[in-house]
Amino acid sequence: MKLCRSITLLLGISIASARSTSSVIIPPTTSNDPTQIEFIASSNKLNTPKIFNVHPTMYGQVWTFDAISSKDPSYSILAVFYASPEVASTNNSLDVVVYVQAGPGWLYTVASKFAEFAELNTHGNGTSGVWKGTGCSFSASDDMSTMTIDFTNPFEITGSVVLNAVAPPHYPCSPTEIGASMEFVPHFGWDNAVPDAKTNVDLKVDGTQVKFEDGIGYQDLSWADISFPDALEHYSWAHGRLGPYSIVWFAGEEPDEAAAPNSTIGPIQSFSVEIPFENQVIVAHLIVNNVLLSVNDGTLVHGTGAIRGGVKDGSMDYSGSAGFEYSTSV
Ligand SMILES: *[C@@H]1O[C@H](CO)[C@@H](O)[C@H](O)[C@H]1NC(C)=O
Ligand SMILES: *[C@@H]1O[C@H](CO)[C@@H](O)[C@H](O)[C@H]1NC(C)=O
Ligand SMILES: *[C@@H]1O[C@H](CO)[C@@H](O)[C@H](O)[C@H]1NC(C)=O
Repeated sequence: MKLCRSITLLLGISIASARSTSSVIIPPTTSNDPTQIEFIASSNKLNTPKIFNVHPTMYGQVWTFDAISSKDPSYSILAVFYASPEVASTNNSLDVVVYVQAGPGWLYTVASKFAEFAELNTHGNGTSGVWKGTGCSFSASDDMSTMTIDFTNPFEITGSVVLNAVAPPHYPCSPTEIGASMEFVPHFGWDNAVPDAKTNVDLKVDGTQVKFEDGIGYQDLSWADISFPDALEHYSWAHGRLGPYSIVWFAGEEPDEAAAPNSTIGPIQSFSVEIPFENQVIVAHLIVNNVLLSVNDGTLVHGTGAIRGGVKDGSMDYSGSAGFEYSTSV
């Protein structure tokens, strides 16, 4: 069992001046050369590519963004930038898939065309990425206080999602320190550049404007040199905001009482977690409201819901919105 989680009081992010620039091109094709993969943090640049020479059977690397309206979790967006032969295609590992939810039952899913290549440029701690030819890109400020996703022609969705970070970046089980491990389970790396962000969503989706300014935003990078199910068969992941707390949890491998899904039969309905934080325990209960993605008979579900909780045995009781993903073996 591996349980990694972060919890932070909302903090400002300090601005610093150190600058450096690097550029990486990810080709659409796989390689048979020896794979290089990074699991020990060598910098504070959480979104640089972490795996090179990806073979056809590998998960590769995936930049994930999402945002959920804090007032109504049935408004949300999930945008996933793949450099993954396993998920995209062995002939072209580069595409972008976006899910937009705008009210109960209103769900739009679109995959981009395959990219000619992906270009990742890193300035300071921020990495920007262009999936060339898809109309999909993201950009980051040097200090990682802001990330923006842009969609334009020929992508079917147009507009932008702007994340203003309100919690500091995090490695799986530690704050961001050089030398820290980013290996969540063997062969699978995960880092969380933006655990929580005040987020503006302004999109045009199939003629419909989808706009909310109170989004709870999030961004992470995951990577592996084996297939995803071989690395992580079951897991529960969620993020959300409870009063002054930003919460992220990611529990992998085995079901565990620390992140117990409340479902033995049928689709997942709720989760409960208890997270130690500064000599206290924060409890959170997530009720599933909306499912964006359900595959393999509901054994993999991604969705949004309402989260409620506070300090255990304390008087505080907060509620908010959250996004989650849950996977169990069949
Ligand atoms: C992938 O490329 C191979 C070799 O060029 C080809 O035989 C195969 O049909 C392609 N697959 C797809 C899904 O395009
Ligand atoms: C990058 O992150 C480190 C560690 O948080 C910080 O000291 C440094 O100032 C940051 N660089 C920029 C350009 O914000
Ligand atoms: C499990 O979910 C059901 C239905 O949402 C709820 O009534 C029950 O209290 C939950 N149990 C726990 C332990 O959270």
